[in-house]
Amino acid sequence: MPAHHEDESNLDRRSFPEGFIFGASSAAYQYEGAAKEGSKGPGIWDDFTHAHPEKIADGSNGEIAVDQYHRFKEDVHLMKEMGIDAYRFSISWPRILPNGSLSGGINKEGIDYYNNLIDELQSKGLQPFVTLFHWDTPRGLDEQYGSFLSPRIVEDFHDYVEVCFREFGDRVKHWITFNEPHVFTDKGYASGIFAPGRCSSWEIGRCKTGDSGKEPYIVGHHILLAHATAVDLYRSKFQNIQNGKIGITLDCIWMVPYSDSKSNGDAAERGLDFVFGWFMDPLTQGDYPFNMRALVGDRLPKFTEQQSKLIKGSFDFIGLNYYSASYVCSLPIDNTVNKSYNTDSYTIQTASRNGIPIGPKPGTEWIHVYPQGIQDLLLYTKTKYNNPVIYITENGLDEKSNENLSLKEALKDDVRIDYYRQHIIHVQRAISKGVDVRGYFAWSLLDNFEWGSGYSRRYGIYYVDYIDGLKRYPKSSAIWFQRFLKK
Ligand code: BG6
Repeated sequence: MPAHHEDESNLDRRSFPEGFIFGASSAAYQYEGAAKEGSKGPGIWDDFTHAHPEKIADGSNGEIAVDQYHRFKEDVHLMKEMGIDAYRFSISWPRILPNGSLSGGINKEGIDYYNNLIDELQSKGLQPFVTLFHWDTPRGLDEQYGSFLSPRIVEDFHDYVEVCFREFGDRVKHWITFNEPHVFTDKGYASGIFAPGRCSSWEIGRCKTGDSGKEPYIVGHHILLAHATAVDLYRSKFQNIQNGKIGITLDCIWMVPYSDSKSNGDAAERGLDFVFGWFMDPLTQGDYPFNMRALVGDRLPKFTEQQSKLIKGSFDFIGLNYYSASYVCSLPIDNTVNKSYNTDSYTIQTASRNGIPIGPKPGTEWIHVYPQGIQDLLLYTKTKYNNPVIYITENGLDEKSNENLSLKEALKDDVRIDYYRQHIIHVQRAISKGVDVRGYFAWSLLDNFEWGSGYSRRYGIYYVDYIDGLKRYPKSSAIWFQRFLKK
């Protein structure tokens, strides 16, 4: 029987059910570097960061990132030192298939790299949790047919993941098809602030290339179809032999109604539907949430009966990325506003109420610390979606890079320790209330390239010295985790 200590002073891994996994997360473009090495093909983030340095806070890119491609052994050593059980990383699609499809050949050097990383993890007793798509679409597919804007992506994704299952599935027991389809579609195809940077001219990204009212939904639709096709392939051809599990990672900030009014309560529900239900409803019920169908109308693609069947139940677990929370207010329906994913839910999010923030903001950008939100999101998922198996696949806090700090000062991240401790307590409380959470991954193992902010913000448990040869140093939070995990 797992022990559930409510008392914070007893907090350590023994407070969690046996077999509960603690890990750290990363993503290929943010970590690997070696963008032009190892016969890797170009991805949309390589192009976007070069074409639009103004969209990255410090004008940087992930060409070198934190060079995990060359330093994975050292990094696995750090994981071992920290005492985690698992490492979540993503495979770069263009490193495996340089032009995105089988027609361009399979890149042996890419296969070798991930084989070596997985073997290194295994030799140190760490489990690989592998994300198959963390936003780095191969350029070839974008050029050929607009990648996720076309249903052709489903077949290419199928072929790519088949290579991965075949090559790595003997050792990888947890697969995540997509990371955060909501953020990828919203920022890549509605506001246009992330690659591929598409949006309508009135959006924040000020692009003239896209349609913020249609493309996000088309992309989301094709992601769901590609996901379900990948799961179907895994289940029919690999799962029996390889005995692994497959799921998807979704993100959701927790949404608190701004007031007790019915309209704000409904607005919070709508807000959750447009971010989380967008994917959770099809995955569990085979169709989009009623709120989305009603408000988006014809701009929301429809599933055929067969597609709906394929998607419903297409997961063994759900990965949840949780960082923060927001108040939500209702907006009146206004048919004169420009149609955009960003306006379709008729809600507005605000971080404070009557001048009081929803939680402290010790980091740099959007994260207000609201640990109760991780528990609320878990309980909401359990109740609304029939108690799925869940892994928290990301949770973390950023700090501003400050090159004026001494190394000693830069390593002191007590605020991050506090963040992790409080969120872990709330995960534990959710478990004691019956939510089936099986693991918790911190974002992130190392400071790294952050999509919109480059190296100007740091999420790492380990510090990376960008001035002195990318040397890694444990922050106070690494020591805290070590104690928490080894106690
Ligand atoms: C998640 C992503 O959205 O949040 C990560 O999966 C990302 O890749 C992390 O690094 C932090 O995001 P941001 O927007 O605060 O830099």
